[in-house]
Amino acid sequence: MLVHLAQLSDMHVVAEGTDEVLYVDNNGRAAAAVAAIVDESPAMDAVLATGDLTQWGSDAEYDQLAEVIAPLDVPILPIPGNHDTRAGLRRCFPEHPWPSGDGHLSWVVEVEGVRIIGLDTTIPGEPGALFDPGREEWLRTALSNPHAGPTLLAMHHPPFATGIDWMDAAGFVGLDRFVSVVADVHVDRIICGHMHRPMSSMVAGVPAEVGISTAVHVALDLAPDGPLQVIRDPAGYRIWRIDGNAIVAHTRYVDTGETPFTPAWSEIS
Ligand SMILES: [Fe+2]
Ligand SMILES: [Fe+2]
Repeated sequence: MLVHLAQLSDMHVVAEGTDEVLYVDNNGRAAAAVAAIVDESPAMDAVLATGDLTQWGSDAEYDQLAEVIAPLDVPILPIPGNHDTRAGLRRCFPEHPWPSGDGHLSWVVEVEGVRIIGLDTTIPGEPGALFDPGREEWLRTALSNPHAGPTLLAMHHPPFATGIDWMDAAGFVGLDRFVSVVADVHVDRIICGHMHRPMSSMVAGVPAEVGISTAVHVALDLAPDGPLQVIRDPAGYRIWRIDGNAIVAHTRYVDTGETPFTPAWSEIS
């Protein structure tokens, strides 16, 4: 079993003609990432979108998102972010196996033997995360079903403090509850978004990774109470290469003007 997943994160797609100041071309950078994913060889088996697919969750933004992602001809697995709306995601991805009811939009999908759990950590209208007893019960039930292959747990908010204080300040209610669930079950990777820059950590012994955003990035400032600042770092996406239980995450940058070339010293290496 060899599976390739692309991870798009925090595209923050906006409506055509928006006058919002974004500092980068959100739609253009997301479209460039989509084009690069389409060109990947080997081809991607699915695309995981780890939240904040749109800027404000309006119908016009989801219509624009549908246009941006239209070139993708593999399953798109959307995780709700704090900038999304549940109704908007349901409307934009009608084929996705969303749960019934009005609650959190968590789901389980299998891609070529890889179990992917999409955990909705959002609180409608708020920036922070929530893992309440209902979500604990849902997650424990989802993970109690036996599965022979690897399990990826995807969620928008990272379940760890990152050290970028103004982002961490939004909070993660129920973080201890989440960590104790992960300690009790088998999960191979935790895959997140929200932070608008790549980072890695460990949660109850499980590697936890934050994907790179296609929108403007959060500035790297680890000073206590550091200011809210952004930076126009290169856009990109991650590629998860899953070969049985051997899981590697790569980062692809897009729109840098660079292409691979053979260096002059290749013959002596
Ligand atoms: Fe975001
Ligand atoms: Fe977010």
